[in-house]
Amino acid sequence: MDLNLTEEQKLIQEKAREFARKELEPIASKLDELGKPPIEQFRKLGELGFLGLMVPEEYGGSKTDTVSYVLVIEELSRACASTGIMVAIQNSLVCQPIALFGTEEQKRRYLPGLASGKAIGAFALTEPEAGSDAASIRTRAVRDGDYYVISGLKHFITNGSIADVAIVFATVDPSLRHKGITAFIVEKGTPGFRPGREENKMGIRATNTSELIFEECRVPASNRLGQEGEGFKIALMMLDSGRIGVAAQAVGIARRAYEEALKYAKSRQQFGQPIAQFQAIQWMLVDMATRIEAARLLTIKAALKKDAGERYTKEAAMAKLFASETAVWVTDRAIQIHGGYGYMKEYVVERLYRDAKITEIYEGTNEIQRLVIANQILQESLP
Ligand code: CAA
Repeated sequence: MDLNLTEEQKLIQEKAREFARKELEPIASKLDELGKPPIEQFRKLGELGFLGLMVPEEYGGSKTDTVSYVLVIEELSRACASTGIMVAIQNSLVCQPIALFGTEEQKRRYLPGLASGKAIGAFALTEPEAGSDAASIRTRAVRDGDYYVISGLKHFITNGSIADVAIVFATVDPSLRHKGITAFIVEKGTPGFRPGREENKMGIRATNTSELIFEECRVPASNRLGQEGEGFKIALMMLDSGRIGVAAQAVGIARRAYEEALKYAKSRQQFGQPIAQFQAIQWMLVDMATRIEAARLLTIKAALKKDAGERYTKEAAMAKLFASETAVWVTDRAIQIHGGYGYMKEYVVERLYRDAKITEIYEGTNEIQRLVIANQILQESLP
């Protein structure tokens, strides 16, 4: 598809594609089976500049536009959705808030390591009782001189057990609801901070997902990210951006499922001809290709709006909503086209189907995306 990409965008897309084909595609199913995070590959991606896409060069990054970021996440996710989301989180939910809201000292201390892949990041917002209703988090941060004392429990945190640095959201005053939420940068090894239970997931099994436990964890006040009470805005702004990444991940998963289904339909012979000759199969392939194209365009549109410096909350939510539903639908159809073979672990569509489902859930369920879109469109004036 010609999206009128610039030479630079085509180059970065090609670089990501090459890496994904050589380094991720051959091992993705094995990592899924073992539930093993692709740490070595993640570090290599850092060396290639793919983890610092939102970090200025002066802090060790390779800052580029959001369309390039989308192209990278699509290519990586096409090969390995677990790697795709790890890269998306590192860029948009960990590096980006530090680059945008960090002090000079915080940027110098954390960004070079995160952008180069030497350090792995996590974004710790969700709690057992605060998922969709993020403003009701209970993790407390109490100021004590030059420190904040953090106590509470986070769960479903991607990279939880393997993260070197976590962006942690806690409230300085629960009675203030979202206006009390404050963000902190917490380093691994800080006394009182440790990972808890690891989750055993249906899909993206090569990502690590765990609890983070805070027991009177003393974090220097200099590690507060932004002002007291600014945390909820930081979280939601970063999630707007994160949702573009999830949309790109969903497009990558769907594209792979479509390619596998197309290949299979052309080679599988039944009733004396390739099944691709049957209209029933053709119509499925047509709808798959059409929906993927539409999902990609919505994702690129959200990216362009972000790059134009405009509010892109609605566009990001629409992209995530449509692309994730596309990924779930397309992977389902891909299994159907494969028939019984598609249900077997030897065929990659089985993994893609499991990987696709989470895109409808994380970084805001699709019910929350619809709520976000409704809030936006009800405020719009018609042309
Ligand atoms: N950007 C900036 N500010 C925003 C915003 C946005 N997109 N959306 C809302 N705000 C602001 C509002 O303007 C308002 O500010 P004021 O008080 O100054 O007016 C404030 O935030 C509160 O807004 P709402 O009253 O709309 O907030 P709410 O409590 O009703 O919640 C919500 C809104 C959209 C439901 C939000 O809670 C939400 O997005 N929930 C989903 C949470 C989520 O996505 N979690 C994902 C966890 S991370 C993850 O999955 C990562 C991973 O590991 C893969």
